Amino acid sequence: MTNRPEVILIAAMSIDGFIAPLDKESLPSTAWTSKEDKDFFSQKSKEIGLMIMGSKTFETIGKALQDRVSIVMTSQPERYTSHNDPDLLFTNETPKEILENLSSQEVEQVALCGGASIYSLFLEKGLVDKMFLTVEPFIFGEGVKLFKGEIEQEFSLLKQNRLNEKGTLLLEYEALG
Ligand SMILES: NC(=O)c1ccc[n+]([C@@H]2O[C@H](COP(=O)([O-])OP(=O)(O)OC[C@H]3O[C@@H](n4cnc5c(N)ncnc54)[C@H](OP(=O)(O)O)[C@@H]3O)[C@@H](O)[C@H]2O)c1
Repeated sequence: MTNRPEVILIAAMSIDGFIAPLDKESLPSTAWTSKEDKDFFSQKSKEIGLMIMGSKTFETIGKALQDRVSIVMTSQPERYTSHNDPDLLFTNETPKEILENLSSQEVEQVALCGGASIYSLFLEKGLVDKMFLTVEPFIFGEGVKLFKGEIEQEFSLLKQNRLNEKGTLLLEYEALG
């Protein structure tokens, strides 16, 4: 695939590497991620303009986010026909097919917004170029891991930023090789 859009993974995780706690009802993402991370996510995803996410992550949002187009990956796009919104696209295409279509529309960047299945799917195919990881000072012990399966990819740290007093860290990595 030549000249595909740059894929920028964005995730918030606990110190122990989870993107969601086991009991999501009692601690939804709006409760454990900081205001600074939410602000960063909003600003960065708007700047990129196009988000890719899995259907489970979409279900936690339930609608298009303002000023951004969302591509939602699902094996059953027909289940979502009631969402009649030009900023919401439901697809059962592979990551490669999605990126090829976007290349032909001259899209230069996409934000990969989770969850773990979708992060892993792109990473195992070598399709993640950059990563913004927010580490929130929380420990969950158990939960949804950032990645699943056997994946090996080396990254190099480009920037680190402390976002607030309690020590939320924003780490920016680029993929090597
Ligand atoms: N902290 C963070 O930054 C962050 C970010 C995002 C999400 N999350 C959390 O992550 C959790 C969800 O993660 P998850 O891994 O369970 O689910 P997910 O990645 O959001 O979505 C999984 C779904 O994506 C679809 N899918 C997966 N592979 C596909 C493929 N090859 N082709 C087409 N569709 C495919 C399937 O949808 P169908 O079942 O419809 O076929 C699958 O059930 C939630 O708790 C969410 O809050 C956290």
